[in-house]
Amino acid sequence: MNHIPVLLKESINSLNIKSNGIYIDATYGCGGHTKLILSKLGINGRIYAVDCDITTILKYKILDKRIIYIHNNFSNLKFILNNKIGKIDGILFDLGISSFQLNNPKRGFSYMFNGPLDMRINQNQNINAYNLLQKISERKLSEILKLYGEEKFHKKIAFNIKKYLLNNKLNNTKDLSHSICSVFKKKNKFKHPARRSFQAIRIFLNKEIEELQKALNISLDLLKKNGIISVISFHSLEDRIVKNFMKKNSLHNKNIFKKIPLTEIEINNLYYKNNNLKLKIIDRIFPNKIEILKNLRSRSAILRVAKKI
Ligand SMILES: C[S@@+](CC[C@H](N)C(=O)[O-])C[C@H]1O[C@@H](n2cnc3c(N)ncnc32)[C@H](O)[C@@H]1O
Repeated sequence: MNHIPVLLKESINSLNIKSNGIYIDATYGCGGHTKLILSKLGINGRIYAVDCDITTILKYKILDKRIIYIHNNFSNLKFILNNKIGKIDGILFDLGISSFQLNNPKRGFSYMFNGPLDMRINQNQNINAYNLLQKISERKLSEILKLYGEEKFHKKIAFNIKKYLLNNKLNNTKDLSHSICSVFKKKNKFKHPARRSFQAIRIFLNKEIEELQKALNISLDLLKKNGIISVISFHSLEDRIVKNFMKKNSLHNKNIFKKIPLTEIEINNLYYKNNNLKLKIIDRIFPNKIEILKNLRSRSAILRVAKKI
């Protein structure tokens, strides 16, 4: 199944594309969002398409002089761009992995197919899921399942995974799924028992939360005044990072609320006086029912938008 871009129109509209603007698609994936940005850019516009998965870039590369491909982690953006392109007009993050990656059994992301215990987004990374599960203690694994998967049965699952490993019974994603599922006595009709644990292992292995936090901070420096940052997240952990980042750098910072409600002039004055305020929160958008019906993957998506001030 092809990857269907989530909140496509909403996220690109939020970027308010200027014909000769410079944009970063920090998560190029299958190019869905980049294509729509391109359709709004003039000949002098530029888009830096970033993805740390080279197979994705090679498979979905669009040949267009206005796109510059960057195979790297989005947390390295400042280092990669190194003041070469000046400030940018907008940056988009569409977090997580694409259907192209999820549905490829060889990548080991899915409990639906059997494949190697890989789960690396960046295939140049040395450690894969199997190495990780072998390396960490049962206690650490239990913490990971709790923190990144919000998994209630984290202790039992960690014990079981380690038991399978010890008995040489953990050789592929099917074994991992089995080691997790056997902990659950009652089956949930709607949610696969291994979903949370697979998510947790993937997030920890790829340092997704740390990388996101770094990249958000970097994007503050990269944006022009009035430049837009739009982030689509897919689970509460990611969304919390994005929400807190936007709040921390904006008027939502509770320390500076003196009285509520503030007039527009008072708000502008506050921004003017507070050098540490760098963002103005613009919007929070959820997919509508039609999008969710057409693309179930979108059901947990949240788009948050802020403007650099
Ligand atoms: C949900 S997909 C993006 C889909 C894309 N917006 C589209 O419409 O086709 C997320 C992409 O981000 C990439 N990615 C995830 N974490 C990354 C990181 N830390 N640095 C760079 N790319 C990353 C993944 O490899 C994946 O291709």
